[in-house]
Amino acid sequence: MKILVVYYSMYGHVLKLARAAAEGARSVPGAEVVLRRVEDLPFNLEKLEKSKHAQETLKEQKDIPFCTLDDLRAADGILFGTPTRYGNMTAQMKALFDQTVELWVNGDLEGKPAGILTSTATTHGGQETTGFTMMAPLLHLGMLIVGVPYSTPGMLHTEGRGGTPYAASTVAGGKNELNPTPEDLEIARALGRRVAEIAGKLRG
Ligand SMILES: Cc1cc2nc3c(=O)[nH]c(=O)nc-3n(C[C@H](O)[C@H](O)[C@H](O)COP(=O)(O)O)c2cc1C
Repeated sequence: MKILVVYYSMYGHVLKLARAAAEGARSVPGAEVVLRRVEDLPFNLEKLEKSKHAQETLKEQKDIPFCTLDDLRAADGILFGTPTRYGNMTAQMKALFDQTVELWVNGDLEGKPAGILTSTATTHGGQETTGFTMMAPLLHLGMLIVGVPYSTPGMLHTEGRGGTPYAASTVAGGKNELNPTPEDLEIARALGRRVAEIAGKLRG
């Protein structure tokens, strides 16, 4: 059973969640996990070049291949990771969705489980709205949304960190200076595991 973790990350927070989700998926017997990134867009290239933090993050990802439509088609379950942009997914991740018309027409993603990973600068910056708004294209594509139940360790909390039922998440900080907490990473691992377990059951 193939599990795809596809993400976009400018400063490394979603990359860390994606790696944790991949680890969680890999812990499920029979899961073959691939990590793929989403290509950047021309409007963002100047900003990338001027940011030392973004350059370091790019270097960290240089060996991770870009996601293709075949990667999406081949997967039995997919985790999509994106930072929040105004309470929504990034244009880079949206561009991937906007290339999936052929998959939509053929129903290639129908019935496959999907989990969401996200990051915001601030505690109330839109982790839940990004989770929710990302669900719209996933549902159009016929995917089955997999969330994070409250029985997952670390979910029942009132601290300023990630962990929503709609998406595994983290708080990056106003200058992207924070790191995902151990709980954030554990919740991302649990979501990866859950998507892989469900994909395995659905395949029979
Ligand atoms: C155009 C733009 C819009 C953003 N919108 C939000 C937002 O609505 N809420 C928020 O908390 N952070 C917002 N951010 C901050 C990013 O979400 C933050 O840098 C990101 O989560 C870090 O993830 P990464 O390290 O994986 O790139 C925005 C950043 C940019 C550049």
